[in-house]
Amino acid sequence: MMPKNLISIADLTREEILQLLDLALKLKEKRGKHDAQTPLESKSLAMIFEKSSTRTRVSFEVAMTELGGHALYLNSDDLQLGRSETICDTAMVLSRYVHAITARVYSHETVRELAKCSDIPVINALSDAEHPCQLLADLLTIRGRKGDFQGLHVAWIGDGNNVCNSLILASALTGMRLSIACPAGYEPDPATMKHARELGGNVMITHNPAEAAAGADVFYTDVWVSMGDETEEQKRLRDFDGFQVNDNLLNNAKPDCIVLHCLPAHRGQEITGEVLYGTHSAVLDQAENRLHVQKALIVMLMAEQ
Ligand code: CP
Ligand code: NVA
Repeated sequence: MMPKNLISIADLTREEILQLLDLALKLKEKRGKHDAQTPLESKSLAMIFEKSSTRTRVSFEVAMTELGGHALYLNSDDLQLGRSETICDTAMVLSRYVHAITARVYSHETVRELAKCSDIPVINALSDAEHPCQLLADLLTIRGRKGDFQGLHVAWIGDGNNVCNSLILASALTGMRLSIACPAGYEPDPATMKHARELGGNVMITHNPAEAAAGADVFYTDVWVSMGDETEEQKRLRDFDGFQVNDNLLNNAKPDCIVLHCLPAHRGQEITGEVLYGTHSAVLDQAENRLHVQKALIVMLMAEQ
């Protein structure tokens, strides 16, 4: 039995994640074939965006179209939400029109409030605390390249941000060992670390990128300045000096390591252009897999709506 919402990646159990990845793989294989199914006919998905997006917006919209349904892009400034209608009123009204809501928001509280007031599933399409849809795509990518999760060593190099928080929980749920290298002051959320350890996670934090990278099967990095952090840009660029994923750092990892980046990337900052699209890179598969996992997710959450 799936949960009603996906607000945190830890709303899913290990078994639900594996079931979702299996369905995503089936949908990936069937894509474009004559027997591809359209289980979401007459279903609509409202997509609220407080922030910019390329991958999330396009992959959800294409997913709904290919599954026979319809997606509505709703820029929060254009909604009455932008003129002080409450989140709860918006959620209750949308629940009378559509069959699920995705929301990309600044504050994690906003997506939690949407979920609390909605009768329909709510999916976190990125908040300041988590990015669960991204992690589903990352897990599909890792399993596709490495076959299994058990025993893999993942190195996160960079900010202890929303993507990192979801990775911490996803690693714990799938049995991957995670080493996080971040500058002092940019550690991930302590409550998320505690939750991961309660789930049996093996997570360590260091301020030394080479230590985190040692023997890694998977490298993962993300921007140093996330959406909402723009006022801190100059300080962050100084503080993250030395935390770039480049060929030198990759020399510490396993020879067959893969490199992930959720994108968008800033070449020359958190990652070099050579590594971003080099021989170890899986970033385009990762971006593509957003489509397949989100199809599986909306089928699983919306099927009974
Ligand atoms: N990775 C990701 O969520 O990309 P967008 O910001 O383009 O949606
Ligand atoms: N950490 C980044 C991820 C973008 C997909 C941000 O929140 O801006």
